[in-house]
Amino acid sequence: MRRKFVAGNWKMNGDLASNAALISAVKAGLAAEGNVDVATCVPAPYLAQVQAAVSGSAIGLGAQDVSAHAAGAYTGEVSAAMLAEFACKYVIVGHSERRAYHGETDAQVAAKTAAALKSGLTPIVCVGETLAQREAAQTNAVVGGQLDVVLAALEAGQVEAIVVAYEPVWAIGTGKTATPEMAQDVHAMLRARLALKSVEAATKVRILYGGSMKPDNAKELLAMADIDGGLIGGAALKAADFLAIVQAAQSN
Ligand code: 13P
Repeated sequence: MRRKFVAGNWKMNGDLASNAALISAVKAGLAAEGNVDVATCVPAPYLAQVQAAVSGSAIGLGAQDVSAHAAGAYTGEVSAAMLAEFACKYVIVGHSERRAYHGETDAQVAAKTAAALKSGLTPIVCVGETLAQREAAQTNAVVGGQLDVVLAALEAGQVEAIVVAYEPVWAIGTGKTATPEMAQDVHAMLRARLALKSVEAATKVRILYGGSMKPDNAKELLAMADIDGGLIGGAALKAADFLAIVQAAQSN
């Protein structure tokens, strides 16, 4: 049985005051002995603030991107070792917003995944299709292909250390969600791809769903066999909504 995992992705939102209020409300609402892993992925300048705020709580700290490079003349980039110094456990790689607005390629996403693993971080590898790709019946080819490029860069023994997030681009921030069945189909396909690399890892890797997951749809999504949690955008900015999703994961 895979332990459920709910991660918030704050994206480029927050400030010192609202971050403090949000983390303190989430901490106050989290059950002491939860059966769900919880994380919050924050903008890089707030890593130190949130590191201190979540210390001693069940909330794991995550970043939203990482450089593929270890160090050097890469202005503006942040290395995996730097994230690890701030006690980051997780880092999102290949979010569709980075693919779309920063031209990140599958190969770069694979290199970032490898860099994260090398520093002991858990990469949350995002994959997802656009609406045009779904309507052209290309979902499995696109999403499976994105994962395959990452898997090709890893040793079989490294696969179990990743988390995968299926985030259909058309569902992100739009209020449109994949139905549980639509998401489950893609998650099962992704697990089959993982199994081609490592049968053992495929049973362990958590595959999160992301894209307008909210308190009112989380329970039915999280009830699906291959949906092991959520990567939450907008709803992670409201403590009550985020906590309600964690609770939905707990009762699944
Ligand atoms: P929303 O939950 O706002 O749709 O965002 C999902 C997402 O992109 C999480 O990474």
